[in-house]
Amino acid sequence: MSTTKDRAMSQSDPNLPPAGLEPDSGENSPQPRRRNPSEFRSRRWFGPADLRSFGHRSRAMQMGYSPEEWTDKPVIAIINTWSDLQPCHTHFKTRVDDVKRGILMAGGFPVELPALSLSESYLKPTSMLYRNMLAMETEELLRSHPIDGAVLMGGCDKTTPGLLLGATSMNIPAIFVPAGPMLRGNWGGKTLGSGSDSWKYWDELRAGKITDQDWLGVEGGIARSYGTCMTMGTASTMTAIAESVGMVLPGGSSVLAADAGHIRLSSESGRRIVEMVYEDLTPQKIQTRKAYENAIAVAMAMGCSTNAIIHLIAMARRAGQDIGLDDFERYSRKVPVIGNVRPSGNTYLMEDFFYAGGIRGLMNNIREHLHLDCLTVTGRTLGENIEGAKIYNDDVIRPTSNPIYGEGSLAVLKGNLAPDGCVIKPAAMDQKFLKHSGPAVVFDDYPSMKKAVEDEDYPFTPDTVMVLRNAGPQGGPGMPEWGMLPMPKKLLKMGLRDMMRMSDARMSGTSYGACVLHVAPESFVGGPLALLRTGDIVTVDVEARSIRMEISDEEMAARRAAWKAPERRYERGYGWMFSKHIQQADQGCDFDFLRTEFGAPVSEPVIY
Ligand code: FES
Repeated sequence: MSTTKDRAMSQSDPNLPPAGLEPDSGENSPQPRRRNPSEFRSRRWFGPADLRSFGHRSRAMQMGYSPEEWTDKPVIAIINTWSDLQPCHTHFKTRVDDVKRGILMAGGFPVELPALSLSESYLKPTSMLYRNMLAMETEELLRSHPIDGAVLMGGCDKTTPGLLLGATSMNIPAIFVPAGPMLRGNWGGKTLGSGSDSWKYWDELRAGKITDQDWLGVEGGIARSYGTCMTMGTASTMTAIAESVGMVLPGGSSVLAADAGHIRLSSESGRRIVEMVYEDLTPQKIQTRKAYENAIAVAMAMGCSTNAIIHLIAMARRAGQDIGLDDFERYSRKVPVIGNVRPSGNTYLMEDFFYAGGIRGLMNNIREHLHLDCLTVTGRTLGENIEGAKIYNDDVIRPTSNPIYGEGSLAVLKGNLAPDGCVIKPAAMDQKFLKHSGPAVVFDDYPSMKKAVEDEDYPFTPDTVMVLRNAGPQGGPGMPEWGMLPMPKKLLKMGLRDMMRMSDARMSGTSYGACVLHVAPESFVGGPLALLRTGDIVTVDVEARSIRMEISDEEMAARRAAWKAPERRYERGYGWMFSKHIQQADQGCDFDFLRTEFGAPVSEPVIY
């Protein structure tokens, strides 16, 4: 008889015929000890014959549940990031019922716990300000309630790391259900890609190449269904990372939100989490250093968002794995970009990627760079999960012998402008800027930069290095996605579509161009970017991985002595706490007090 684990393996990639994996013979994966329900965490709430447990049981009955529905069953939290202002998760309002169906089928007791929805589109000043809030909410929701395992429903950019950070710190069995990419955009017969085509057509409008009516057409056609951005933006990057680190059913991160396979994936995840509770398969058993190295390799091969670096470092450190910029640099040098998806690729979108074989196919193509023995939520290894994966379009998912970019998606640069590192995306920029020297034009805030780029008399030249500072973790605050600084109108009218840009901000994964990002330490706390002046020559050399401002050490020291720290922006509330405790980009922008080394968590609340 097939087990839930077998079903998880055979249908979690609904794009493909059954994955061709035989039911587990037990030869490859040792059978874990099956826990007795008396060991479940929730038993502490529902089990004892005392006054407090009487209260818990009577309140469950108040909600209409009978003791048969919870007794000896694992209680499964569904952490759902649905809201009416979260367009990427619209389907989660009903998809949660499919997760519940799966949990009930497998003999669990499902409970839905809504959490911060973190809409990338609507949250201001930036959703990154709240990633750690979702992480804390997730951890504390799981800790404070009678929960034995969790299904995490997310996908829109920060929801994936936010949910995983919290669940990893809490470390009870958890499985991630990605929202799935939306359908391709369409306008006037042209395919539109999330974000990328917004920036592209906005510049065309500013350059006078399309009409206001055209622009309205783009506005109506670029987001045609529920689901996450369908370019290789941060959402698709992070869900692929969640899968490659072992936290998603095989192939699950590629399934389109509007595909019936997504409903099956949701139900299957519900069935699987119940088994995971019996197996006590916790995130920290899955998220080893080798698992994070797999995630970095996959990110590089996918043509990932620059945001991957920040989130991966934070996630790995919550799992007790010391991943840093050097690990990204190592994989960047050896894993080529083979996912031909925009913005690194020119044509295809996540819908094409799904039809071409999805993440299993991509991982199979780079298997020599992966640790195939890593454990995953299936209870099997990554190697077993991708065995037999096929490619149906080798222009979308290329072989490593025919990559779209010979090295990894991202490059880490260091030098006197960024002693703790910064990031650039060579696969998605005009290649003539790979080595560039030019005079800096420096802005201290976004409004003055925005005004200048519309001023056709402002002294921008094609060689200019446009710089925005005070846009980092503390300066933004929250490190907004301003890093793809807008092209000056003057240069657009000259026919130029790229220039060297630099900031301590992030940029959307759907963005592109010669943009140096995440400069660390940030200018707001006195990093060298704070000392740069308009007219200084800045040199970027991607091959040498270096970034410099061409001034003497003596001049640098004199400017440092004269530098005055800007005033902090928040005097109370969450913003105050954020600015006191946020770490720099190279440390993953986690709160210092949430680091693993800060101290052991209180994993079990006392029940009096
Ligand atoms: Fe939600 Fe892009 S806005 S994934």
